[in-house]
Amino acid sequence: FKTLEDIDFAGRTALVRVDINVPMADGRVTDATRIERILPTIRHITQAGGKAVLLAHFDRPKGQRVPEMSLSLVRPALEAALGKPVAFAEDCIGIPAKKAVAAMEPGDVLLLENTRFHAGEEKNDKMLAAGMAALGDVFVNDAFSAAHRAHASTAGVAELMLNCAGRLMEAELTALEKALDKPERPVAAVVGGAKVSTKLDLLSNLIGRVDHLIIGGGMANTFLVAQDVEIGKSLAERDMTDTARDILDRAAAQGCTIHLPCDIVVAREFAAGAAYETVPINECPADAMILDAGPDTVAAITKLLGDCRTLVWNGPLGAFEIAPFDMATNAAARAAAELTEAGHLVSVAGGGDTVAALNKAGVADRFSYVSTAGGAFLEWLEGKTLPGVAALED
Ligand code: 3PG
Repeated sequence: FKTLEDIDFAGRTALVRVDINVPMADGRVTDATRIERILPTIRHITQAGGKAVLLAHFDRPKGQRVPEMSLSLVRPALEAALGKPVAFAEDCIGIPAKKAVAAMEPGDVLLLENTRFHAGEEKNDKMLAAGMAALGDVFVNDAFSAAHRAHASTAGVAELMLNCAGRLMEAELTALEKALDKPERPVAAVVGGAKVSTKLDLLSNLIGRVDHLIIGGGMANTFLVAQDVEIGKSLAERDMTDTARDILDRAAAQGCTIHLPCDIVVAREFAAGAAYETVPINECPADAMILDAGPDTVAAITKLLGDCRTLVWNGPLGAFEIAPFDMATNAAARAAAELTEAGHLVSVAGGGDTVAALNKAGVADRFSYVSTAGGAFLEWLEGKTLPGVAALED
């Protein structure tokens, strides 16, 4: 695909697909990471004398005009981050959008209303995409985190215009390629989270690509059951044990070593400050549940990462939302950060809970790369082609 360097933006109107689907509470943006990460693309276009027209979705209004999901709510945070005014149009196509674009001077930035207020967005409707394409001269896709959606504003519009990838899109793809497509070996993946069922495709793809797969969180329990380990009252998907066994067998056949916890932190209730104990993996009390991996597991992970050159991280190792069950996630993340800083490890992390967990551990900025993507990162780990990326021209 083309990049910003391949396009002359002077005097041109760039339609820039961004992902500013940011978390909000009480009308305020609580994490502006996604906004900050699109600034280099916007600044490149405006400094080159172009006009930047931002196209984005916000939340899931499902084709309705939901006032609480208006992008006008995100506009102040965008203006603060950019350090200049951002105009706003009440629709992403039609007369309001055309008027707002016509009023722009070179160097200006305009934010269009939520693309998902149109039912055609998620259906990749051709008319809607044409309405968007009519607003500019070139399409810049800087929304890797929305690239798993084949929508009018991600895939449809790209097919109708001269297009290129923005800086963030380029950075995401470069980092992911370095981590899985052309990695320095050995490669380890940490996969955590609650359920095996939501990460089946991901696990199947990874066992064929990584040398070591470290499984943590609730999903490790299902693998433990598959190995006839007693897990007391822990959450597990008992109907998935055959699937877990199959993954273990296929991993062995493909030369991928699967690592499960060797010791565990257990408690009778999942609550802040609950009494807990650390026990070997085969000594989970019948009335307790596993809420985190133990220190021996963390030591084993740390040693393993010391022998690896590349790490892909998705999902927490324990019930990280509540202390002290965040200990294994925090300690393993710190170990990965230290190895990264020592120049020993390329570490790439992504996926909703992952970024929250690494931020909580205070190590997100010490990894080689942290993706802004949730679902798109997962689909990429599953080995799927992302429609928003595929639609960019060669
Ligand atoms: C995200 O937050 O992961 C992206 O903005 C995509 O949002 P969606 O899952 O509603 O398509």
